[in-house]
Formats: sequence, C-alpha cells, structure tokens
Amino acid sequence: MSKLAPSLLSANFYNLKDDIEILQNNNIEYLHLDVMDGVFVNNISFGFPVINEIKKHNSHFIMDSHFMIIQPEKYIDRAREVGCDIFTFHYEAINDTNNIMSIIDKIHSTGMKAGISIKPNTKVEDIYKYLEKIDLLLIMSVEPGFGGQKFIEDSLLKVKKLKEYRDNNKLDFIIEIDGGINSDNIKKIQDAGCDLIVAGSAVFKNDINKNINELNKIINE
Ligand code: DX5
Ligand code: ZN
Repeated sequence: MSKLAPSLLSANFYNLKDDIEILQNNNIEYLHLDVMDGVFVNNISFGFPVINEIKKHNSHFIMDSHFMIIQPEKYIDRAREVGCDIFTFHYEAINDTNNIMSIIDKIHSTGMKAGISIKPNTKVEDIYKYLEKIDLLLIMSVEPGFGGQKFIEDSLLKVKKLKEYRDNNKLDFIIEIDGGINSDNIKKIQDAGCDLIVAGSAVFKNDINKNINELNKIINE
C-alpha cells in the first residue's frame, strides 16, 4: 500500500503549527520538505531553521527533504543536524557519475537515507546505475519549483519501468512521486507502483482533515 507524504510547501505558513498538528492527528509519517535555492529552480522556499523547529517538536515525523538546489553536497551535514531523515537531491544538479556516487556515500555516512530525484525530461534509464546504492527515487511529475501544477501523465510510464527494474534486479528502493497529485489521479498513481505519494495543494487547500481522509480512503480501497 502507498503512503501519503504531505508537502509542506502548500501549508499556511502563518498557521504552520496548527496545520502540522492536523497532520499528526491523522497519523502522517512522512513530511515532504521542498528546499529551493532560486538557482536550480525559479523559486525560493524555506530552509534549515524551519525544518529544525518542526523536527524538534515533532520527532516522530520522517523528514523527507527534497533539495532543489545546486551543489547539494555542501548542505548534507547541516541537513542531518536539523533533523532530515531522507536527503534527496536532483540528478540534473550534478550530472557526473563519480560525484553522484560520492554524494550518496556522504549522505549515508551521516545516517540519512539517500534519494535521487529526476525532472520530467530525464529518462529513468539514466539513473539505473545508481539504484543499487540509493534508498529512494523521486519522480517529478511536474517541473520542480511550484505547487499546484498539472500532473504529467508520462510519469506513470516511468514508475512502471522503475518498478519492473526493481523487481527484476531484486532491489528495494522506495519509489516516490511528486507533483500534481489529487483525489482524481491518486488511484492510478498507486496502481502504477508508487510507494510514497507527495501531495501539496491536494492536502493543504481548504479542509486538511477532509483532504487527507479522502486521499487515504482511495489509497486504502
Ligand atoms: C514542487 C515540489 C512539490 C510540490 C507539490 O517543486 O517538489 O513537492 O509541493 O505540490 P502539488 O502537490 O500541489 O503539485
Ligand atoms: Zn517536492
């Protein structure tokens, strides 16, 4: 069964504590954290002090951090210090096999799980060589940078290919998907083989309790 990972980017930052308490009351395990630098993507979100405070008061959350930044290797230690549990960086931010391998090792040396994310135009085949070493592969189903965009259907093919590759090679990385997910498409996304499904606006827009219940109901059907 898939799990829902609410993306904090769509939360009400004026009301963050209340929004987070609703997630807790709904037994959310994974909290998805989008860190942006205004360079790798055309947007700037939140950073380490915010993550630190959330983890300090909510230690049970699995802090699923998604770094949409250049030079992610510079921030691995700091991410660990503030409580990140999963450190996902973008394949397109590095594009050099040796560097990618050493970044994965560095993430693991801190005790965090290592994830690689790929943008919609990146082929899954390009990252096959890393799958043995990582804990999570994050497929972007929108162009990274903003919440509230439309789901790119081709992403489902990528999920299916990855799942097949994982089965054939007896690997066990998590398949995560991020962008444009809502109650209309979450079922087919789960059926394609995603373990972790990120949702921002579909969780935080209007009534959070109602949204989570509805999404979880579909997932659990
Ligand atoms: C976009 C972020 C997503 C975003 C998803 O770059 O990586 O996590 O919050 O938002 P929705 O679910 O609204 O598409
Ligand atoms: Zn994300």
